[in-house]
Amino acid sequence: MRFDIISVLPELLESPLNHSIMKRAKDKGLLEVYLHQLRDYATGKHKQVDDYQFGGGAGMVMKPEPIAACIEQLMSERNYDEIIYTSPDGQCLDQQLCNRLSMKQNVIILCGHYKGIDERIRQKYITMEISIGDYVLSGGELAAAVLVDSIGRLIPGVLNDETSALFDSFQDDLLAPPVYTRPAEWEGMKVPDVLLSGHEKMIDDWRHDQSMERTKARRPDLWERFQNGV
Ligand code: ADE
Repeated sequence: MRFDIISVLPELLESPLNHSIMKRAKDKGLLEVYLHQLRDYATGKHKQVDDYQFGGGAGMVMKPEPIAACIEQLMSERNYDEIIYTSPDGQCLDQQLCNRLSMKQNVIILCGHYKGIDERIRQKYITMEISIGDYVLSGGELAAAVLVDSIGRLIPGVLNDETSALFDSFQDDLLAPPVYTRPAEWEGMKVPDVLLSGHEKMIDDWRHDQSMERTKARRPDLWERFQNGV
């Protein structure tokens, strides 16, 4: 899968996307991430990428021309399945959306800044707007990093044990059960006997019960969805 990320601050993305699982995915050739400095597509002496908003009001708006030039350049090189704009106005990212996006081949992510992008870019190019939560970030870069990480790890072969993503929290609308490692007793607290029993069916049932209890207690919204099977 290939991501092309357009940003005025691509440096913000370098570290999160070049370590751990993301680095391994790239090294294995399963994930490609290209960062594009929007300013490189701006014309004029000052390489201006933002301007005052028509109608007045505080805050600058990202100009349409450099964004269009960058997107057009990319679209002339390959077809894109989605052109995503990271914005608090967007559809909220969840595991189902990550699953769906992990099946795409080529995706552009445009990172917003300032007051946002000129509306005409949204109309002409953006196929999907995604928010990573109901709060406002100072720019879309961290949201883009969250997108690439949460989607990239779902690409088959990226995780060592391929089944492990299937058991993540949210994959079946339930939170993950508690996990333990050695020692079997620590600070007077014991690992539940069932996990030491070696009895696979009992362990699976215990984990499922724990997942349900945890979801019911912590995330009534997910619990409702799980019970309704939607
Ligand atoms: N840009 C600013 N806030 C954001 C959010 N919550 N999600 C995605 N992009 C954003």
